[in-house]
Amino acid sequence: MGAVIYERVVRPTLFRLGGGDAEAAHHRTLAALTRLSRVASAVAVLRRWHGVDDPRTVFGVRFPSVVGLAAGMDKDGVALRAWPALGFGFVEVGTVTRHAQPGNPRPRLFRLKDSGAIINRMGFNNEGADALAARLEALGPVGVPLGISIGKSKVTPVEDAVGDYVHSMRALRRFADYVAINVSSPNTPGLRGLQDRALLDALIGALQAESDGTPVLVKIAPDLTEGAIAEVLQVCADHAVAGLIATNTTITRDGISLRDAALAAEAGGLSGRPLTERAREVVGFVHREAPNLPIIGVGGISTVDEAKRMLDAGASLLQLYTGFIFGGPPLVRAINRELAASTPSRR
Ligand code: FNR
Repeated sequence: MGAVIYERVVRPTLFRLGGGDAEAAHHRTLAALTRLSRVASAVAVLRRWHGVDDPRTVFGVRFPSVVGLAAGMDKDGVALRAWPALGFGFVEVGTVTRHAQPGNPRPRLFRLKDSGAIINRMGFNNEGADALAARLEALGPVGVPLGISIGKSKVTPVEDAVGDYVHSMRALRRFADYVAINVSSPNTPGLRGLQDRALLDALIGALQAESDGTPVLVKIAPDLTEGAIAEVLQVCADHAVAGLIATNTTITRDGISLRDAALAAEAGGLSGRPLTERAREVVGFVHREAPNLPIIGVGGISTVDEAKRMLDAGASLLQLYTGFIFGGPPLVRAINRELAASTPSRR
């Protein structure tokens, strides 16, 4: 499927699926992908079409290609085998929490089409860490590296956050090629405060002790100052964290087009095109401060050129969310092909 067909035919159909409700469209698309993921022959054919063999080893894990699916799209891991068929070289499921929780009231997901952006305040709607563990146990190997993102349950007070995360780590570490510690979503009160030095130190220390050798990565917000990022990096160095994921959504509202101005007032995290530059800046800063720390670059990648620039800024791997919503599998395929063609100079 070419980019034009996707944009003119497939995307409008998918966007209409929910009768204009972005979240309903999301659930229907996910349900279709869940069905697809059960048809092994279709998965194999699609994977050959969209994917590419462009392997690299990062924090000791071998990734078949550079572009992964970002956290939040398949929180409960219901369509896991479908993602490699759409070209993704790895998948990050979650964020899941110790306790199953419904998330915030709807509506909580808004497409800002003119801006190539999304605002969401989902609030970690998920079935819980134990349910994900049971699903992964039943599923068996996914075929590509699996990241598992863990966060804090809404009912758990911030002072008890460590135990909450540790429960999820214990339940899920054996299924994960890496565990992502999410301390950067804007939609759980108090969560981003865990990026503060003392709290982060306690959290990462406890999680490293429970990781059983599984690489631990920390996902940060784009709204941190350079001083605050430098502190996070110090904590990461103290605890030999395997890598950083930069960035999560932003609470700023810069870069939204006039046509989407009304939606800009919605509370939540902004992703997509308005985030491109800031996410790349953060990746560049982290890379300069900690040149040996692997970075998964995520935030506003919606073209092949932006993917390349994120790698040039210092990322070792990439993830997509919003760019994939607007560009679909043709975007993943185009990035895969282009990067594989230019890879020797990048490795
Ligand atoms: C997200 N994102 C996200 N991140 C995370 O660590 N845990 C999560 O549960 C979610 N959930 C989520 C839901 C929705 C609807 C969106 C749009 C995003 C953030 C995501 O993984 C990514 O970091 C940002 O969206 C920036 O990348 P893009 O979307 O600009 O490519």
